[in-house]
Amino acid sequence: MNRIPVIIDTDPGHDDAIALMMALASKELDIRGITIVAGNNTIENNTNNALRLLEHFGRDIKVYRGAGRPLVQIQELPEDIHGKSGMDGTSLPDLCQGKPEAINAVQFMENELKATTERIKIIAIGPLTNIATLLAAAPEVRDRIDEIVIMGGAALGGNKTPTSEFNIWQDPEAAHIVFSSGIPLTMCGLDVTYKSSLTEADVARIKAIGNKASTLTGEILDFYGHAIALRGNQGIAVHDAVAVAKILRPELFTSALYNVVIDLDGRYTRGCTVTDLDDVTKAHKNVEVVLDVDRSAFVDYMVEALTALTEEVKPHA
Ligand code: RIB
Ligand code: CA
Repeated sequence: MNRIPVIIDTDPGHDDAIALMMALASKELDIRGITIVAGNNTIENNTNNALRLLEHFGRDIKVYRGAGRPLVQIQELPEDIHGKSGMDGTSLPDLCQGKPEAINAVQFMENELKATTERIKIIAIGPLTNIATLLAAAPEVRDRIDEIVIMGGAALGGNKTPTSEFNIWQDPEAAHIVFSSGIPLTMCGLDVTYKSSLTEADVARIKAIGNKASTLTGEILDFYGHAIALRGNQGIAVHDAVAVAKILRPELFTSALYNVVIDLDGRYTRGCTVTDLDDVTKAHKNVEVVLDVDRSAFVDYMVEALTALTEEVKPHA
């Protein structure tokens, strides 16, 4: 089977962790590396969270530190959602043996994209700072990127402001660089991630799997679910898991091409992914926007992936 080469750019982050577990479980993905960006917490904590998760499942996938702050926007860590560590509430050991690689995320992405014989998909589930920096530093790699599947934005609404979703809001300039790059983009925004929300019965089903992945996911959902419920959310939107599922089970989703631009100047709308649903601008349709999902099939797939995620026991050195 030809595996899909991917780089995962992430700010773990509770929902990032579930997305990463689903990616680790898949035999269809060739994960070339995991690049870290500040967002849900600091670059240090997000990097440590990724290393702890990979060690927990005995995976040797390389981790690369990226941007510690947005290009322009003031950094604002959502500690009310993800806690002081960025992944509070889990039994993951605080310390791990793993260390990030010596080169940074952008250098890794440039090297990998220049060296690969296949075009690579980027799964972007945090602010787009690393990817924008890559495109600024090495624009020639653009054609080596097969697609960027983004968890971010929303055709309608927002979760950081009434019009803006956190990943885009946290670095709108970076989002503008990516959304105007001409690279094939798929936007898994709040429109579809809220529709993918887990119910209490779904959470019980995941906890009942009874393996290491389900135990950790149960802890994540308990902490993260409580935090977002305090904001009045019905159900638990595991936003980032949708981006991974969109690549691995595209048939579960409904999407179409629209023109999307990033608002950089609005007093109330900065960071909005302005989506031309009615094609009033007749502008180039630059983004595949995902608007709907077969929710129960998505949950079935999440359960299937978490059930399949086993710990790889490394041979004794
Ligand atoms: O708005 C949801 C997004 O912001 C998710 O990627 C979550 O992890 C946070 O980064
Ligand atoms: Ca994220």
